[in-house]
Amino acid sequence: MKIVLTGGAGYIGSHVLADLLSLNKSVHVVDNFYNSSPASLTAVQNMSKREFAVSELNILNGPGLDKLLQETRPSAVMHFAGLKAVSESVSHPLFYYENNVKGTLELLKAMDNSGCKNLIFSSSATVYGVPERLPISEDHKVAAINPYGRTKLIIEGMINDWSSTDPKKSVIILRYFNPVGAHPSGRIGESPKGVPNNLMPFLSQVASGRLEVLKVFGNDYDTEDGTGIRDYIHICDLASGHIAALDYCLKTSGVETFNLGTGRGYSVIEMVNAFKKASGRPIPYCIVPRRSGDVAECYADVSKVKKILNWEAKLSINDMCADSWRWQHLHPDGHCV
Ligand code: NAD
Ligand code: UFG
Repeated sequence: MKIVLTGGAGYIGSHVLADLLSLNKSVHVVDNFYNSSPASLTAVQNMSKREFAVSELNILNGPGLDKLLQETRPSAVMHFAGLKAVSESVSHPLFYYENNVKGTLELLKAMDNSGCKNLIFSSSATVYGVPERLPISEDHKVAAINPYGRTKLIIEGMINDWSSTDPKKSVIILRYFNPVGAHPSGRIGESPKGVPNNLMPFLSQVASGRLEVLKVFGNDYDTEDGTGIRDYIHICDLASGHIAALDYCLKTSGVETFNLGTGRGYSVIEMVNAFKKASGRPIPYCIVPRRSGDVAECYADVSKVKKILNWEAKLSINDMCADSWRWQHLHPDGHCV
């Protein structure tokens, strides 16, 4: 059984790749390395000591994707390839619509041409927009508030329409909350380009001394310590969620959507304290005004995924911080993207 991973060299894809290889799955990675490096794949290969195929290919290249899927005839595609920076999606929306939406369109066409009916798609909690209630369950209304989120919503709709053309098609849409951390081996992790936008890589770089001070975006939210609360999930838990989703996808049909989170939120200050403890380093921070577009609190209702996929996150924020720190410490320049 062959599994194609689009975006398999990226942060999430490389961790799922490692899990699939540990289960002896046959994997073919497709990536154009726009936001990653072949070094992440080398690291996975060294770690797993297993072979897998790699094609350097842009998913916008329809004929190229067609040829690849005709040749590999995968049982399933796990579709990670996409652009994910919210602020860049605001400044370059068409780039996001083209890459994410058109890229997925080309993928679905190629899947039809090769007869592949099983798909796992990387969506995001960002599709929920400003939460109307907490925790957020999958039936919460969707109302993305930025172009990145809207690409995910358009893709979810497109995939639903695609799947309804054939009762044998099976799709799992995974809405990730805040994936953080790194593989405990310290060999693969997140490699953001430039100054990180997200909290965890920023914290890592402050702890390492690469960045001077963390700017905490607002301490006047209606939360216990006034800072924003998010559902951080360890990347290895997120990866195991994909394995559970793949098993389910291969034995069912139709479309199912699941949240992948822990169901518990932590504030920015709680994350700072946990990182300080894990790294043994000081984390200087200052409070600055709120970041536009941020919500006060966002955490998942994980009862559906637990009930149907029999999956739940197991790792703690201490594991998340310790593994992020190990990765940062061993690879201060990431995978050198
Ligand atoms: P990433 O940038 O590390 O990985 C994405 C990979 O896709 C990269 O290797 C990139 O080179 C590749 N890629 C992008 N466009 C491509 C194209 N046109 N053709 C071929 N390859 C292409 O990001 P990630 O954090 O691993 O995210 C994976 C997926 O999960 C994305 O779709 C992202 O939107 C989604 N997601 C991520 C998060 C998060 O916080 N990391 C949260 C929610 C959803
Ligand atoms: N934060 C800071 N300082 C920073 C960075 C972040 O205080 O330098 C705060 C934010 O205000 C927020 C929390 O830390 O309260 C988490 O922020 P992130 O940027 O790490 O994560 P977001 O929740 O804003 O967004 C992330 C991804 C989105 C994805 C979403 C899904 O960036 O792409 O999670 O839940 F859609």
